[in-house]
Amino acid sequence: MKAWRASILYFAGPAQAHQAVLESDGLLVTGPDAQGRQRVQAVGAYSQLAPRFAGVPVEQLSGRIIAPGFVDMHIHYPQLDVIGSPADGLLPWLESYTFPHEKRFEVPEYSAQAATVFIAELLRNGVTTAFSFASSHPASVNALFAEAQTRSLRLITGKVLMDQNAPDGVRDDTEQSLLDSEALIQRWHGVDRLGYAITPRFVPSCSAAQLRGAGELAARYPDVWIQSHAAENRDEIAWVRQLYPDARSYLSVYERFGLLRQRAVYAHCIHIDDEDRALLQGSGAAAAVCPTSNLFLGSGFFDYAAAERAGFQFGLASDVGGGTSFSPFHTMLAAYYVGREGHSKLGVSLSPQSLWWQHTAGAARALGLEGVVGNLLPGCEADFVVLNPQATPLLARKTAQAASLDELLFAMIVLGDDRLVEKTVISQAETS
Ligand code: GUN
Ligand code: ZN
Repeated sequence: MKAWRASILYFAGPAQAHQAVLESDGLLVTGPDAQGRQRVQAVGAYSQLAPRFAGVPVEQLSGRIIAPGFVDMHIHYPQLDVIGSPADGLLPWLESYTFPHEKRFEVPEYSAQAATVFIAELLRNGVTTAFSFASSHPASVNALFAEAQTRSLRLITGKVLMDQNAPDGVRDDTEQSLLDSEALIQRWHGVDRLGYAITPRFVPSCSAAQLRGAGELAARYPDVWIQSHAAENRDEIAWVRQLYPDARSYLSVYERFGLLRQRAVYAHCIHIDDEDRALLQGSGAAAAVCPTSNLFLGSGFFDYAAAERAGFQFGLASDVGGGTSFSPFHTMLAAYYVGREGHSKLGVSLSPQSLWWQHTAGAARALGLEGVVGNLLPGCEADFVVLNPQATPLLARKTAQAASLDELLFAMIVLGDDRLVEKTVISQAETS
């Protein structure tokens, strides 16, 4: 067993949802479970826990804040180098930058090298669970899983399905794509901290046969995840309407093919209506909110007020490379701006505790991983970040003046980036 003494931020439990607790002089005790995986054994006030764990070595982290590792609900590993590529909107951006970049991942060595950089970048930014697209090449999936396994990152990914409306080099073959997906499920799903996601790119890039096959695969493997995009951009939605003129909505196309269920995550869900929201809520599917991407590509604003009313699950995501940053602090700040946009509908702005929850325990819950990651309650896997609130002169000044937990969290959300993350500790290995 091992213990850390610091200020400790965590979420008090499902009943209080996004009620954060800051234990100012806290102790976090971790120890291996039966499989040797490090889990939280205890968290609380140092004065209360120290006598109980008297023999356990304690690392003193004075002036530091321990917080749950961040959960990124939607990111694209083959878009590492697409960040910051300007375009008029989603569809030209895909054509001009994204597809050409993803084509490079047909080369296994290229995939492996990018996977190393990608996972290092996640960890440097404090992300300890990632739900990522790979490219359409099975080799890209193998490369990413292999690297995540080496670094002990909790990672869910899958081979992108895209058998139409895509150029040579990234377009796949319907039947082979489904065989490849199933072989990858059998090889990787449930191995160590890895999980597979059936990954139809979005409705326009998949034939009806491919979507049907994806739905059948999902029915055969109910604990495998599903990930895709929905209702991000108005031109994209018009395209889906042309392809499925009889469909009630974009999201209903996924429903028709059996792709709305628990463990299904749809990025964006911006231009949806209350019937779609009820579909998400009723099916248990979740939305990944991608504010930096939505602002960068001019896609629109996620409607937080309507989401809260409908009660479906959602959480935060970077969506790199449509998104502009790996940093959860940048994503939380952008989500705050998006929430401000809808301020009059919401009645209040998004609180810093809610933003933080959406990127940790809330995201974990939306992925079906509540109590596993995204929090530091006993039983959770011991994934956490060590934050240094003195990391920059301005952070030091601002955090020193914080008179409440909300002020402290806001200071970090607004001024924070990778410099704030002094260290990322994951359940089996230590990195910095
Ligand atoms: N829709 C289909 N593919 C993509 C993608 O790679 N990024 C985003 N943001 N939207 C998409
Ligand atoms: Zn995306």
